[in-house]
Amino acid sequence: MAKRLITTELMEEDKRIEGSLRPQLLSEYIGQEKAKANLKIYIEAAKARGESLDHVLFFGPPGLGKTTLAGVIANEMGVNLKITAGPAIEKPGDMAAILNNLQEGDVLFIDEIHRLNRQVEELLYPAMEDFAIDIIIGKGAAAKSIRLELPKFTLVGATTRAGMLTAPLRDRFGVVNRLEFYTTEELTEIIIRSAGVLGVEIDPDGAIELAKRSRGTPRLANRLLKRVRDFAQIQYDNRITKEVADTALNFLEVDKLGLDQSDRAIIKTMIERFHGGPVGIEAVATTIGEDPGTVEEVNEPFLVQQGLILRTPRGRVVSELAYRHFGLPVPGSEA
Ligand code: ADE
Repeated sequence: MAKRLITTELMEEDKRIEGSLRPQLLSEYIGQEKAKANLKIYIEAAKARGESLDHVLFFGPPGLGKTTLAGVIANEMGVNLKITAGPAIEKPGDMAAILNNLQEGDVLFIDEIHRLNRQVEELLYPAMEDFAIDIIIGKGAAAKSIRLELPKFTLVGATTRAGMLTAPLRDRFGVVNRLEFYTTEELTEIIIRSAGVLGVEIDPDGAIELAKRSRGTPRLANRLLKRVRDFAQIQYDNRITKEVADTALNFLEVDKLGLDQSDRAIIKTMIERFHGGPVGIEAVATTIGEDPGTVEEVNEPFLVQQGLILRTPRGRVVSELAYRHFGLPVPGSEA
């Protein structure tokens, strides 16, 4: 019993820290300048009119701040935030219950919105457009449709696969933002801010080293920061220097570009088994025993952004840069 209590307390503490690492306001949010500039205008305009904010869609690779931005929107608008995810809403009745419990102006965040089933998605159309849903009561000849008015709410949808959204759903979002990978400078700033929240000392060079190896992703930067902090605490004098960051990240098998084991397996498989491409991403994923969806959503966007993999009409190709990164001879240039 006591043990359980301690675990719960630790989990609460973890959640609290996780929460406090997230910025609450647009002014605290580092990076995503384009999305922020957009949101700032639309939020101010909606507030000045005393209206709810139009529905917002965020798309882009995981870990870039979609949930955080939904929280920032709710805070800036001074409303509640309700969080759910596409696969969690099984039946139209579940969706109707969630919508019916919203208060005027609330932000409803639906993560992985491309994974809503069709019936649930169709219920969202009138909810988003007219703030009403039609519910069927009874069965057969006695069935009756009644219209349920909803409070004016803001739907914030998030997806890693914009291409998988149906056109009718996509078209119902008034504000669409593509989230981008963060620059090393932005990640350095985020890491220094997070270190402050966690109460850990970090040198600027330590923060830069961590930033360079965080795959352009704040979620990963914060996760690596916590692991590196453990090293600093146990093996060094509680301070994250460049050397501590380097040693810890090498131990964690995060390389100089931030590639992890599966990133490296993807590129090496493309080189060793598929002659550097062109090859389909499914074939590569299957060869290394990874889920193709994960490889496509999580690994590939970063590898493409870094210029290690190129997309061509015939499939993916390994770039010269990738051969050099692995210290391998670039094909065709050996002579
Ligand atoms: N923590 C995680 N993401 C952040 C961001 N974009 N700005 C500031 N702190 C963050």
